[in-house]
Amino acid sequence: MDFNSNKRPETMERITTPALANAFVEAQLSALREQIGDRKVLLALSGGVDSSVVAALLIQAVGKQLTCVHVNHGLLRKGEPEQVIEVFQGQMNANLVYVDAADRFLDKLAGVADPEEKRHIIGAEFIRVFEEEARKLDGISFLAQGTIYPDILESDGVKAHHNVGGLPEDLKFELVEPIKLLYKDEVRMVGKALGLPDNMVYRQPFPGPGLGVRCVGAITRERLEAVRESDAILREEFAKHGLDEKVWQYFTVVPDFKSTGIRNGKRSYDWPVVIRAVNTVDAVTAQPAELNFALVQKLVARITAEVPGVNRVLWDVTPKPSATIEWE
Ligand code: XMP
Repeated sequence: MDFNSNKRPETMERITTPALANAFVEAQLSALREQIGDRKVLLALSGGVDSSVVAALLIQAVGKQLTCVHVNHGLLRKGEPEQVIEVFQGQMNANLVYVDAADRFLDKLAGVADPEEKRHIIGAEFIRVFEEEARKLDGISFLAQGTIYPDILESDGVKAHHNVGGLPEDLKFELVEPIKLLYKDEVRMVGKALGLPDNMVYRQPFPGPGLGVRCVGAITRERLEAVRESDAILREEFAKHGLDEKVWQYFTVVPDFKSTGIRNGKRSYDWPVVIRAVNTVDAVTAQPAELNFALVQKLVARITAEVPGVNRVLWDVTPKPSATIEWE
């Protein structure tokens, strides 16, 4: 099988069982060892399914010849950087460079309200941070990427939302793209075969700009914390009720306006939190997930009690269209 082709052969069997996933892993490990030899590989590891599967494959194939760079842009969900470090450094013994760049990103984003400008700043800063880390490493020959087949079908092969496409000429590496012929469900099967934890393999889609597009308008640290804490509560409650396996995407949003409330007998003037939970097949259209009202009330009680600066919770039940899934 030619793993370097950009076209999936018609004869390639769909990976639907653990046995087929194991066979893919075995074939890829020898193909990767042959391609890489004793040279070195660099990977931007976000902790998403695709880059995590590529990391796990390369760790098995070439071990410490792989260096993973995990950039924390300050817009990750609660516990995400910790999990990346625990799984890849702790359990898989990978070479992992962890870059806490939160202050850099938040300083650049201060006062910027336009959603596309926010995306642009996050993408451009990501490339800058990754490039700085790449320059510190000697003798890298390859750049690994978590490109998957839909990325190739939808674009010119450059992962639309991935940020490592724009490195300067003197940092151009040969690409290693071991899962580029796989569909998402196959990537998950392969992730399972490689021993990645379920909450990494089956996690919901998470946008590259992260919580940045859920902290509506100009991002402030206080409001960003309100997004992160309320998102953590929502995820915890969804997992407790088995909804993490049933709902396609669910998160919270904090708009940039305040409303009045009462706390401890006194008038408050605080942020609202919006709950968004949707089901979809392809993200082109989406329907609000039907949530049990007792669960909604529990979420209201926990979020208003536990998240500082929040006095109100709204539930967004708008389909796409007319709304998009995200608020920005
Ligand atoms: P919308 O909001 O357009 O979202 O209905 C559709 C899907 O795309 C995700 N999304 C993004 N993913 N970078 C990403 O990597 C982005 O800038 C971005 N914006 C939206 C969104 O989470 C949903 O799954």
